[in-house]
Amino acid sequence: MKPFLQINEQLSLHLARPELAAPIFEVVDAQRNYLRQWLPWVDATQSVEDSRQYLKESMAHNAQGTQLITFLMEGETLAGSIGVVQYNKDCQKCEIGYWLRQDKQGRGLMTIACAAFTGYLFRSKDLNRIEILTAAGNAKSQAICQRLGFKHEGTLRQGLFMYGAYQDIKLYSLLRQEWRRLAT
Ligand SMILES: CC(C)(COP(=O)(O)OP(=O)(O)OC[C@H]1O[C@@H](n2cnc3c(N)ncnc32)[C@H](O)[C@@H]1OP(=O)(O)O)[C@@H](O)C(=O)NCCC(=O)NCCS
Repeated sequence: MKPFLQINEQLSLHLARPELAAPIFEVVDAQRNYLRQWLPWVDATQSVEDSRQYLKESMAHNAQGTQLITFLMEGETLAGSIGVVQYNKDCQKCEIGYWLRQDKQGRGLMTIACAAFTGYLFRSKDLNRIEILTAAGNAKSQAICQRLGFKHEGTLRQGLFMYGAYQDIKLYSLLRQEWRRLAT
């Protein structure tokens, strides 16, 4: 299947499609404890059918332009996901989110994928600002924001309610003018 974005020889992004349901569920089911630390939807994913339903909804959002959900492949292997989870077209901004399977951590894959994805967004969409919201305790995610030049703007106190507890959220953003400076 033709990729949505070829990042380098090994890494590519693919739009949500039904055939990804089985590999996604396999990763989520095998890595629940790792993923659920920071992702609110893990407990609700209990079967391949749940992943299929998620992909169906993502495909509908992608088609309507309300989200842009893609999956990161390393060669033929599903490595994770990155996507626009929310657009605010009036303010020309969006929020992106991502996850990487545990056994693919520590090699810079998500930093590389995020750099390519934010570059794609600024080049091809009418966006002025990209936001990333990370749980305050999620140091690895914050390290990605920092490596990519996102600025920490503040903390949304108890901004997320996940698995029965409130979490503080750190808000990061990158403006088009900053991205342009970093890209040149
Ligand atoms: C957040 C998450 C994607 C971070 O994964 P990660 O592997 O640390 O991120 P990267 O793929 O960018 O890799 C960075 C690591 O590779 C190293 N690295 C190696 N080569 C690198 C390169 N070329 N470029 C950047 N980093 C490189 C970095 O030093 C860093 O290692 P360190 O953590 O030991 O310092 C991952 O932990 C995850 O998916 N967690 C669960 C879901 C989640 O938290 N999602 C985010 C919600 S906001």
